[in-house]
Amino acid sequence: NLSKSGVPRRLHAAKRVIVAKAGAGRYKVAILGAAGGVGQMLSLLVKMSPLVSALHLYDIANVEGVAADISHCNTPAEVAGFTGKDELAGSLAGADVVVIAAGVPRKPGMTRDDLFGINAGIVMELVEAVADHAPGALVHIISNPVNSTVPVAAEALKQKGAYDARKVFGVTTLDVVRANAFVAARKGLPLADVDVPVVGGHSGTTILPLLSKARPKAPFTDEEVEELTARIQNAGTEVVEAKAGAGSATLSMAYAAARFVEASLRGLDGDGDVYECAYVQSQVVPELPFFASRVKLGRDGVEEVVGSELRGISEYEARALEALKPELKASIDKGVAYVQQQQ
Ligand code: NAI
Repeated sequence: NLSKSGVPRRLHAAKRVIVAKAGAGRYKVAILGAAGGVGQMLSLLVKMSPLVSALHLYDIANVEGVAADISHCNTPAEVAGFTGKDELAGSLAGADVVVIAAGVPRKPGMTRDDLFGINAGIVMELVEAVADHAPGALVHIISNPVNSTVPVAAEALKQKGAYDARKVFGVTTLDVVRANAFVAARKGLPLADVDVPVVGGHSGTTILPLLSKARPKAPFTDEEVEELTARIQNAGTEVVEAKAGAGSATLSMAYAAARFVEASLRGLDGDGDVYECAYVQSQVVPELPFFASRVKLGRDGVEEVVGSELRGISEYEARALEALKPELKASIDKGVAYVQQQQ
């Protein structure tokens, strides 16, 4: 009784059991802003993860219905809803990963930076609660402007004496997802094979896809590089305009964030081969204390900021990297200053 690969079926079955036991349903994930456009879909996708045992959904309103709805999916994660500040602590207790998707999204004509005034305060309040109630958790920040909200989170955690640089991430996975999709379409490559590192930040020209480092190796004309780079940088605006006032990317964002949650959980679970691009504290570019680049995810979050994808980049990319530095630095400084001014 052999399987297609010639391995006895019995052995395949045994292996499956072992794999399931190693990682099965051990992790608690809290999603803050879970009733929002990103939050709802992300909650559903995380409910599908076999690595998750408990899924805590927190929002200031409308989250009980989302939790009840998602809880009926017959996957193992236990779902609970938490509404309002009084229930924030309970939503965070024991969390291994906390995803922050709370805050306002863009409308046509807005930049991500226009959201700073509202979202910086929300992120600060939420990470302060993480410091108190889930001090060891990995924190994934989706709320824009990520270039500034991550420094806000880091600074707020520092002030609470609870900052661990390995555990705070700006989620830039959507830039990679978009780059992979656009490059595969443009070059006629099989989607599953394409991997484009995207470095820098998560706004306009601070988003720097490294097409010279795309896998599989593909030749790009100068014109293709310019067009693809611009499309990846403006893809969020493409969605904002198509939604015409009804918000920004939610479904593709949730897909990307779920991929990043799953990667983080695999890292926590001891899988030694998990790499993603993320916006983290870094020394890859010395003048930019936060920078998106490829990181290795492990049992304590960032095991290594790889950064080697920046070696040997094209002249076009090197110029774009130089050009993005002042804007990204200003966004970082703005985030840090915001927290310091609150004291
Ligand atoms: P949304 O308006 O649909 O949902 C936001 C949710 O946050 C709402 O349910 C709201 O009640 C909740 N919220 C507001 N204040 C809160 C607080 N203090 N505590 C807990 N929850 C609170 O917005 P959407 O479309 O889901 O976007 C969420 C955020 O994600 C926005 O800041 C958006 O810019 C960002 N985003 C980031 C992307 C990225 O690539 N990193 C891509 C797409 C969106």
